[in-house]
Amino acid sequence: MTAVTRALRGRLLTFRDDPATAGDASYTYIEDGLVLLAGGRIAELGEATELLARLPEGAAVDHFPGGLILPGFIDAHIHFPQTQVIASYGAQLMDWLQRYAFAEELRFGDSAHAAAVAGFFLDELARNGTTTAAVYGSVHPQAAEALFTESHRRNTRMIAGKVLMDRNAPDGLLDTARSGYDDSKALIQRWHGKGRQLYAVTPRFAITSSEAQLEAAGALMKEHPDCYLQTHLSENRREIETVHELFPWAESYTHVYERFGLLGARSLFGHCIHLSDRERLLLSESRSVAVFCPTSNLFIGSGLFDLAKAHDPALDLRVGLATDVGGGTSYSMLRTLAEGYKVLQLQHQNLPALLGFYWLTLGNARALQLDDRIGTLEAGREADIVVLDARATPAMAHRAERVETLEEELFLLMTLGDDRAVRATYIAGEKADDRI
Ligand code: GUN
Ligand code: ZN
Repeated sequence: MTAVTRALRGRLLTFRDDPATAGDASYTYIEDGLVLLAGGRIAELGEATELLARLPEGAAVDHFPGGLILPGFIDAHIHFPQTQVIASYGAQLMDWLQRYAFAEELRFGDSAHAAAVAGFFLDELARNGTTTAAVYGSVHPQAAEALFTESHRRNTRMIAGKVLMDRNAPDGLLDTARSGYDDSKALIQRWHGKGRQLYAVTPRFAITSSEAQLEAAGALMKEHPDCYLQTHLSENRREIETVHELFPWAESYTHVYERFGLLGARSLFGHCIHLSDRERLLLSESRSVAVFCPTSNLFIGSGLFDLAKAHDPALDLRVGLATDVGGGTSYSMLRTLAEGYKVLQLQHQNLPALLGFYWLTLGNARALQLDDRIGTLEAGREADIVVLDARATPAMAHRAERVETLEEELFLLMTLGDDRAVRATYIAGEKADDRI
């Protein structure tokens, strides 16, 4: 057994199950707890008074008085080549893509640029307490290569892929069905399962892929069933109309992906706002994941994600939560919860704080089928950890004076919190700032 080299002391919070179904039994909270770390994993956790007494000599204790120690946050959908088009003015999806996203992604053919941005991107995730993300690259295989290289160096668990797009985009951003397949295959062989890196086959969306390319994506998934599939689905009305024009034979947008074998338990569909009940059923029956991206949906003006319909017990659609930077406006999963709450309020739906923090950790780990490795504080899990401070700003500290329960504190964090509320982030047992 690897020796315990470090321990984190503070208030521990971890989920065991979904609070919507398991209630108070869904989480464990220890007021003065200790998490022991060994070899990048959690060795043990419990009451500080008990564990401190038998801590091996020489083990460091990082003490966070008042700090809330949680599993690292998980972002189920984000674009790493869009860090310099976040906050771009005045366009809905199709124009936003043309004017901002595509123009920016053209730069990522340059490996040095891609490497520099990958470094910034991973720094920013860590500053926000995000330790795992499902990441879109650009069309250029060298951009995905740069992200994986940097993530591997830092030992972060990332899911990422080269974007597949062979039509309806600028020339410099097009691959072909053949080259997209070959480049993805080479990246899978080099990176999927190397250290903590995992590959996602990434057709951007139906509009930018020919039928031949969607078929190639389906072939990749058949050949590599333990890879992921990530794409966009039903985000914007004009997008949906265009899909109907391009695939006149398809009953719906979701049926296009189904036709090419792209639905499944490892398939992540960004947005899923304007779905019909039949489409929701297709997603649910295939155990596909709908990914809610609230800051993006508000900023690009796409619409309101209907969580109640997804959670309808008859359907039980799996749902992830994500920033979708750069359509999304914040790297912070706390800000994402805040906007998610408002999207649901507009539909007279709820997002209780316990459910929110479950979602950022175990919920998204389940959505990504990684809950056997991350998402909880538990012996044997990878030691990706975030430490939060609900008094991080004057306004938060002031509000905190009236807080009486853990749930109130969590709601304060998810409503007023952002990167300033992150005291520390640990990646595979190492403090992230020490790696940056
Ligand atoms: N649909 C296709 N590509 C994109 C993208 O980059 N961002 C968003 N929000 N939607 C998309
Ligand atoms: Zn997206």
